[in-house]
Amino acid sequence: MNYDEKLQNVSVLGAAGKMGSGILLLTAVEMADLSLKPENKGKTFCLNAIDVSHEGLAGLMKYLKDQVMKLAEKKTVALRKLYQDRADLIENEDVIREYVFDVMNIVRPVTTIESAYHSQLVFEAIIENLDLKKKLLSQINENNPYKPWFFSNTSSIPIHVLDEAAKLDGRILGFHFYNPPAVQRLVELITTPKNPAEMVEVAAAQLDAPVGARPLCEDHPPQGSAFTGTWPDWIAFTAACSARSYSRSNAGGVLFVRLTS
Ligand SMILES: NC(=O)c1ccc[n+]([C@@H]2O[C@H](COP(=O)([O-])OP(=O)(O)OC[C@H]3O[C@@H](n4cnc5c(N)ncnc54)[C@H](O)[C@@H]3O)[C@@H](O)[C@H]2O)c1
Repeated sequence: MNYDEKLQNVSVLGAAGKMGSGILLLTAVEMADLSLKPENKGKTFCLNAIDVSHEGLAGLMKYLKDQVMKLAEKKTVALRKLYQDRADLIENEDVIREYVFDVMNIVRPVTTIESAYHSQLVFEAIIENLDLKKKLLSQINENNPYKPWFFSNTSSIPIHVLDEAAKLDGRILGFHFYNPPAVQRLVELITTPKNPAEMVEVAAAQLDAPVGARPLCEDHPPQGSAFTGTWPDWIAFTAACSARSYSRSNAGGVLFVRLTS
């Protein structure tokens, strides 16, 4: 399954929260941009914004619309290219309106966890409670036939602890944004030796492709050893670290990534 396919059906858990709302915004924009690529025309992209709070979800949709509008205004030139086959979109404001519609059209605000049973990728940003995270992640994992990948925004729970608690067999990594995600251009990618290489590659691509992320050479590897390579090197580096111990990843690696736009 390639990058675009992996992002066709995504869920964000805790989407109405401080972190979840920003993660949802970045993911919605990335998915909309993928959906507008000529090779993806006709494919359905679906982003479930899952939260227990109806009020929170209502606020989220307003936040999303306002933010996408601002973003669209900033990238009108790029959007004109994306919509170049649309003769009906003449003025910049036509293009902006269409883009906002296309992003919002991908997002499904829901209060039920079952929507995540169809996702290939699940971002987890619910409250910092191990028992609740374990319950929701294992429930999704047990009911989802696609063997989904889980990207967790946890600040303090070691990734291997979540992995073992929810029995995810290595299909979880830390994708730790700083607050607020759409503004703070720093993400911590926390991998473990059990992670499939393809999953780490997609996580890296997601940082790289949508918002112009670049790996920082000032990374934070275990035992203070230096890493100065590219993404493929990083994946090899992570595997090579497997004999070492590191509290956040239990012998994987941690990399800080600065998003450049
Ligand atoms: N706030 C920060 O500065 C910050 C920074 C980095 C990482 N984090 C991490 O991000 C995660 C979320 O933190 P936050 O500050 O956004 O919390 P928050 O309280 O703002 O948001 C949590 C959201 O989860 C929702 N939620 C609670 N139970 C749920 C359930 N059963 N199903 C679905 N949704 C549910 C809540 O309604 C809320 O909208 C935590 O793991 C935290 O450690 C927080």
